This record gives sequence, C-alpha cells and structure tokens, in this order.
Amino acid sequence: MAQAVLERSARTRPRPAIEFTKLLIDNKWVDAADKRTFETLDPSTGEVIASVAEAGAADVDRAVKAARRALETGPWSTMDAAERGLLMYRLADLVAKHAEDLAALESLNCGKTITDSRGDLEGVVNTLRYYAGWADKVEGKTVPVRGSFLSYTLRQPVGVIGQIIPWNFPLLMLAWKWGPALACGNTIVMKPAEQTPLTALRVAALAVEAGFPAGVINILNGYGETAGAALVAHPDVDKIAFTGHVDTAKIIQRQAAETLKRTTFELGGKSPNVIFADANLDDAVAGAFHAIYFHGGQCCTAGSRLFVEAKIHDEFVERLAHKARARAIGDPLDDATQQGPQVSLEQLDKILHYVDLGKSQGARLVAGGLRVGDRGYYVAPTIFDGVKDEMAIATDEIFGPVVSVLPFGSIDEVVTRANATNYGLAAAVWTKDIDKAHLFAKHVKAGTVWVNCYHVVDATTPFGGFKMSGQGRENGEAALEHYTETKTVTVKLG
Ligand code: NAI
Ligand code: MG
Repeated sequence: MAQAVLERSARTRPRPAIEFTKLLIDNKWVDAADKRTFETLDPSTGEVIASVAEAGAADVDRAVKAARRALETGPWSTMDAAERGLLMYRLADLVAKHAEDLAALESLNCGKTITDSRGDLEGVVNTLRYYAGWADKVEGKTVPVRGSFLSYTLRQPVGVIGQIIPWNFPLLMLAWKWGPALACGNTIVMKPAEQTPLTALRVAALAVEAGFPAGVINILNGYGETAGAALVAHPDVDKIAFTGHVDTAKIIQRQAAETLKRTTFELGGKSPNVIFADANLDDAVAGAFHAIYFHGGQCCTAGSRLFVEAKIHDEFVERLAHKARARAIGDPLDDATQQGPQVSLEQLDKILHYVDLGKSQGARLVAGGLRVGDRGYYVAPTIFDGVKDEMAIATDEIFGPVVSVLPFGSIDEVVTRANATNYGLAAAVWTKDIDKAHLFAKHVKAGTVWVNCYHVVDATTPFGGFKMSGQGRENGEAALEHYTETKTVTVKLG
C-alpha cells in the first residue's frame, strides 16, 4: 500500500491574511533600526508568504530599555496583582475570540494541521487563564526566625525576561512563557523562531488591545545567532527562558554566565514509549502512533524509542505500519489532513539523513522513509524495526515522523535501556499491571511519565526535563518559582 496523500481540493480553506510583520517595541509597530527584513515561507509549498522585520542588536537594546521602563516606572510597576490577572483574562478572551484565525495563521506558517492548531489554541487560552488566576496568589511566608525579630519573604518579579522560543508550537510556547512571567509581574522581550514569526505578532496585537501597558510585552523577530544572541548578552536582561536544541542551550548558558543571568531550558528528548504484552493493544497501537506522529514528530516529547515486549512485537509492528501508510498527508489547512509538512527544508534534510543512517546501519525500514511529493516539505510516517540501542536513529533526536522499534524482554531490562540516554524529558508505559506501571514510573528518569496515554500536557502540570532535556519547569505552580526572586525582610521588634 502506497502512502495516502490528499490532493489540494475545494475543502482547503483560503490562505489567512497577514496583518502584522513589524517589530513590537513599547506598544509601537516599528521597522528594524537598520530596516532589514527576512522572508517567511509556507512549508506546504516552499513559497514566500511575507517579509518580516528582522531585529538586530540595536532593536534588542530598544526593546530591553522599554521593558526596563515598564518594569521600574510604568503603570505595570504599581498595578495591583489582581489587575494584572484581569488583563491576562482579557487577553485570553481575545485569543479565544480570534482562535480560528490564529489557528489558520499558525498552520500556514508552521505547517501543522488545522486540527492540531485548534488544539494548540485551546492550550494557549487555558494557559493564559490558569496563570491569570495565579497573579494575586503568589504569596510569601512569615518565618519563625530566632531572636526578637519578624522575618517574612516577598516574592518579586525577576525583572526583564528574554524569551526565546522554537517553531514547533509557536503559540503554545509563547503562552507557556508569557503566562508565569506576566502573572509574577515581569516584563518580556520575546524572540520567536525565525521560521514562524507571524502568530506571535498577531497575539501581541491582541495584548495591546487588551490593555497591557507599553513595554510589558515586546516582540522581536529575527535570527538566533544575531537577535537571540544579543538578547542573551544584554546586561539589562535578568533571565533567559529558552526552548529549543540542546546545543543552542549550551551556547546560551555559556553566554549567560557573563552576566550571571538566570536561565531555564526546555530542550529535546528521545523519549521511551514502553509497550508490555498485557496492555490493551488497540489503545497501545493508537497511543504509540500518536506518540511519534503527532505534529509530524516535531515534538520535544515524541515517543521516538518504541520498546515493544518481544512476544507481541511482530503483530504490533504490523498494525502500526498499517496505520502509518493510511495517514492522510496533505495541505495543513484542509480539515481532512492528518499530517502536514515538516517546518523547513533544513528539517526535511535532517530527517532524510537519519533515514539513510538507519538503513546504512542495518535497521529494517518497514514503512515510509521517503519525501512525499516535490513541493513542500512532506515526509511519510516512517518505521524502523530491528533497531539496536546504539544506532544513530535510536540515540539522536530526529524531530520528524521516524520511530525506532526496539524489542525487550523484562521490566528491569527495559528500564535500564530506557534510561541509557542523556535525555530525560518524557516516557510512557502501556500495561494493565499496576505494579509494572508504578515501578516504571518510579525508576525511569524523565520529567513526565504517562501511563496508558501519551502527550497529555496541561497548563496545571509541571513540565520539563531531567538530565540534558532541560533545567527548571514550566506550567503549573512550579513555573512561578522561576519567575520570582525571594526577598527576606527582617524587622527588629521592640
Ligand atoms: P534552535 O535551538 O537553533 O532554535 C530555537 C530558538 O533558538 C530559535 O528562536 C532560534 O532563533 C534561537 N537560537 C538559535 N541559536 C541561538 C543563539 N546562538 N542564541 C540565542 N538564540 C538562538 O533549534 P532549530 O535550529 O530550529 O532546530 C534544530 C533542532 O533542535 C531540531 O531538529 C530539534 O531536534 C531541536 N528542537 C527542539 C525543540 C523542542 O521543543 N525542544 C524545538 C525546536 C527544535
Ligand atoms: Mg538552530
């Protein structure tokens, strides 16, 4: 059976309009100081869809100054916490009102299916509302200090936060970073990914409409090596929050050491997804499929190492391959599409390079392994069987629709093999045996563990990595600690 491909048809919706392409600094839409622009593409065709202002170091400096003013002297600096929360609720309502347009723009620019973009928009609204509720609940403590003193703690904003995000979940990563930063009273200079500059600008326009004071939220599109690096180096930025590649995080951490900036990192993974023979196999096949192919595998939590208990291995792989070939690949703006293009030619090339490595290192290609069509960056859902733990396709983050199937015999064996990686972002286990489920959850080194489910991520639950998958946590109450400084105040009594 060949790969299922949808032709562009009448079902496909019109391309969304692009209204915002400039930088947002101090609530004003401005060109870059040197007037530079760069082109942004539609990954489903490779065609240019807009020219976008490209920030450089001078723009970073302007934005940081605006953010500093907003933090120290603007209305934001004296606003009641409850009022900050209200602004965030208002922004969430505006995002909800424009969700369908935002979803279409997200799909156009990053290639995710319109169905997935709608899901992301729900996540954005939930995250903004969740943190809006926190705004007036971030409390200090009174401390039973020795002697005749009163000691208490204040939790104050860290300051000006530089936020650098990737292209795979442009709006959701924005919300994860804005939510706790704004709730705690910080100000923001955000650099979206160069591949996906458009939706952050659209949401920033809604933030202005919601009434966020000038300088609280600034958006600078541009490249990592220029705008991103300038933000990291800027002495008046207090913290960098980053999501992206491990190697980029290393560069940022080295550079941040110059000014001892706070950093939090949410990085990649090579997440183990473990299927025991006693699992509900219908659910496990569907779950393993979703784990790797959701958003074409462009997910930090992708279940890319699929450990299947030896006695069900053959049947499992066959069922997975059948589903993979039937996956409808096509225009992301078509409601019927299940998988859109990869985000860029660079990612397409990286994925195909790993397919070649898989084949040359002796793994067995069971499905996919090919580019689909010659327009846009489409890759067929790919399965390698007979994979050895040390092969490149089993050790490296591919960030595409490529799964490595690894048979196993016992729980001890699979825990050891699952942990034999520098990553530790997520893991999952499929079984009806609660002992196995909880033992695996206890012993696997990962920031998130799913039992009989996958990719369940919510604004309320802490998210982040063990080992080289990151530092710090996003979402939930856990994120607040990374956006506040604790100040101890001690008062002599009597
Ligand atoms: P990247 O880490 O280079 O890009 C992420 C963000 O960092 C972008 O906004 C980029 O402009 C910025 N950046 C890049 N270099 C920088 C620097 N020197 N200083 C400051 N900011 C910088 O990731 P890229 O190149 O887009 O993708 C490469 C691989 O990274 C992917 O194939 C995937 O394996 C991984 N990745 C992981 C993500 C995750 O969610 N954990 C998201 C995106 C990519
Ligand atoms: Mg890069």
